Amino acid sequence: MDTQKSRREFLLMLASLPAAFVVGAQAAGPSSSTQRATAAPGGATGSQPFRLPPLPYSYDALEPFIDAKTMELHHTKHHAAYVDNLNKALSQHPELAARGLESLLGDLTQVPEDIRQTVRNHGGGHWNHTFFWSLMTPGGAKVPAGKLAQALKSEFGEIDTFKKQFEQAGTKHFGSGWVWLVVSREKKLAIMTTPNQDTPLAAGAKPVLGNDVWEHAYYLKYQNRRGEYLAAWWNVLNWDIAEKNFLAALNEGSSRLDCTVKRHRTLAASRRS
Ligand SMILES: [Fe+2]
Repeated sequence: MDTQKSRREFLLMLASLPAAFVVGAQAAGPSSSTQRATAAPGGATGSQPFRLPPLPYSYDALEPFIDAKTMELHHTKHHAAYVDNLNKALSQHPELAARGLESLLGDLTQVPEDIRQTVRNHGGGHWNHTFFWSLMTPGGAKVPAGKLAQALKSEFGEIDTFKKQFEQAGTKHFGSGWVWLVVSREKKLAIMTTPNQDTPLAAGAKPVLGNDVWEHAYYLKYQNRRGEYLAAWWNVLNWDIAEKNFLAALNEGSSRLDCTVKRHRTLAASRRS
């Protein structure tokens, strides 16, 4: 696969998404003004407002840390299913798509009850995976730089300390879900986890990093060794995009809830009970 061509297609696809979603996704991308100005070829239609974005790299680009088969299945089966099911749900309330996915996920009470859970699960799946793909790259910087590096050291002491805590949170998370580094309402960095396809947006947090800890993300290569997958993931992380996400999160601010790990676990537990 032509990596540059794929990245262009990925950016064009972001341009085809409703504006509010693109804002969030663009926080992970390198050139927002170009994306906004460019129409996507064969762009989304009213009945299919969301589309599966092509990856900005080939399926085998993240080898040996994430294998090609996992990437292909993850993208063409799992992510594609989230997009399909989201579009089916929104076909019952087509006016909602214009609000943008990020807006809907940030306040699910604006979604009619008959499709609310589907939007939560499949809309969340679409948003989370699009964010996730943009966060990875072959041969990226091995360490963070800039303001994000300063903030990580301020909050966690050392970068390696943060990485260990992030890995531990992801490893200990029960069942399927995600582990995140977010900017909280207080504009502080915090680690949190979300169950299923819930997003930090629903808790008012702004994601900087997010790793998928569903078994479909790692089981072919790592089987039950989730911790090993989390440790290997740093090798494919795009710290440049993480820095952009961090700066965007600081600028956009706004959160409704405290989103420390402890607070989030309390929220997650209350939802399950
Ligand atoms: Fe996934």
